[in-house]
Amino acid sequence: MPRMTLRNILIHPDPRLKKVCEPVADVNAKIRKLADDMLETMYDAPGVGLAGPQVGVLKRIFVIDCSDKDEAPEPMVLINPKITWVSEEMNTYEEGCLSIPEVYEEVTRPEMVRMSYLDVDGKTHEEEFDDLYATAVQHELDHLNGTLFIDYLSKMKRAMITKKMKKLKKERARD
Ligand code: NI
Repeated sequence: MPRMTLRNILIHPDPRLKKVCEPVADVNAKIRKLADDMLETMYDAPGVGLAGPQVGVLKRIFVIDCSDKDEAPEPMVLINPKITWVSEEMNTYEEGCLSIPEVYEEVTRPEMVRMSYLDVDGKTHEEEFDDLYATAVQHELDHLNGTLFIDYLSKMKRAMITKKMKKLKKERARD
């Protein structure tokens, strides 16, 4: 098995985070390597989800692991994910994003979703997600359509966060 490589995580604002991503045409070795790298990068960050565009790959793929710290890891790779059902009930969670470090804001989304996707072997799955997993898969799917969780906030709040991130990027560039 090839060694995993940590990928650089893009920080908002970046035009690549605002693009609609292309479907994965072929689940091949290159995609499996990308998935491994993305999982490694997510655990290293650490975070509970990471989408292709966040590492500059504009393809419809994301990884998640919402397991508790004291549980065994539950890495998941979702390729070409599609929502096939959402619950009427809504849920509000405080969300964060590896591309918007140290910013946490409440976002309301459907409490449960059903999603179809391909795994790293190209096999189709359809699965129901609830609680933290439902929020995570919707947050990550949004990334594949160029939407960030701050897009659900007020224009004013979003502008403040964007300003803060621009400052953070400048500081990081200087280091
Ligand atoms: Ni995110």
